[in-house]
Parts: sequence; C-alpha cells; structure tokens
Amino acid sequence: MDFTLLSSPLQGFTDFRFRNAINTYFGGIDTYYSPYIRLNGKMVIKSSYERDLLPENNLGLEVIPQVITNDAEEFLFVAKYVRELGYKELNWNLGCPYPMVTKSGMGSGLISNTEKINTILERAHAETDIIVSMKMRLGYETTQEILDVFPILDQYPLKILPSTRVLENNCTKWCAFRCFSSLS
Ligand SMILES: Cc1cc2nc3c(=O)[nH]c(=O)nc-3n(C[C@H](O)[C@H](O)[C@H](O)COP(=O)(O)O)c2cc1C
Repeated sequence: MDFTLLSSPLQGFTDFRFRNAINTYFGGIDTYYSPYIRLNGKMVIKSSYERDLLPENNLGLEVIPQVITNDAEEFLFVAKYVRELGYKELNWNLGCPYPMVTKSGMGSGLISNTEKINTILERAHAETDIIVSMKMRLGYETTQEILDVFPILDQYPLKILPSTRVLENNCTKWCAFRCFSSLS
C-alpha cells in the first residue's frame, strides 16, 4: 500500500534536533510539521524559532513550518519570513485546544470566528504566494463550527489536516470525523 507519513508537531519535542535524529536513525517520515511559531504581538522571530527552521539545520528533511495566530499582520510577517528561508508552505494551527491559547482566540478557539479566518486567508492569498495549509479540529465547542467555516474555506486553495480530538464524547468525535471526511 502506498502511503505518506507525516510527523505531527509537538512543541518542545519535535524540533530540528528530533527531526534530524529520527531521519538519521529511523527514516521513513515524508514530511515533518514544525512546532508553531507564536509572535505574541511582536513582529520578531525568536532565535529558537529561527534555529528550528534554518535550512542548514534541516538538510535532507521535508519540513513545513507552522504558525499560530489570529492576526493578519502576524500571519503575513511569518509567511514572508518562511518564504525567505525557502519554504513554500505555511501550516496554520486551528487545532490547539489548550486554554492559554484558546482564551486568546487562537488555535481551536479561532474556528468559530469565521470573519477573522476569512480576513487572514484573503490577505494571505492576495499578498503572498505561500501555500496555506490548516490543521483544524471540527470545532472547539461543537462540530457545527467547522460546517460554518466550510463556505469560507471553499473560496481558497487549501489543504486541511483534520485533527480528530474535538469533543470529550468519543462517539460524537468519530461520527463527526466521518462526516468531515466525506465533505472534504
Ligand atoms: C506537548 C504537545 C505539544 C504539541 N505541540 C503542537 C504544535 O506545536 N502544533 C500542533 O499543530 N500540534 C501540537 N500538538 C498536537 C499534536 O501534534 C497532535 O495533534 C495531538 O497530540 C493529537 O495527536 P493524536 O491524535 O495522534 O493523539 C502538541 C501536542 C502535545 C502533547
């Protein structure tokens, strides 16, 4: 069977050291998603993020950088930064469920804000040539959230990476996931 193996990002674990070690001693991963860049309002890329993404620290690896933000300027800043490093794609995190993130309207806390999602996608497509992919849950509170986002996503050429851990109730989670698969 032909398949593609993607390495999901884990902040604090799957940095360039991890990626190089896995690639050297095991191999088999087609694409590594890097842990997210979070700017917190300052248009500055921290040195730890820079080290993680520098091409010389990722030789021979297929890496896709990730950003977490609800701000169009931040998104564009990071998109331009990663383009300058030679990356073609930027993954946008709309999956993170941690309260520290969701309370600020980011990660899965952004899924219900269709207007902001639209603004960011519109500007990303108008002002950069970056390929945008999104790691998304079905919603933060309910699975209706993603259904409300679909008409917006339909307007853009996007890749969606489903994240299945959406609700406490496992039955709802998997039923909803099947519904999502058939729609995408
Ligand atoms: C410590 C930790 C850090 C994580 N950091 C990120 C991250 O930076 N970006 C991201 O998209 N997901 C992050 N995740 C989520 C994981 O990539 C993954 O989607 C999640 O653990 C669910 O995976 P599973 O369905 O295989 O259990 C993190 C998860 C953990 C436990």
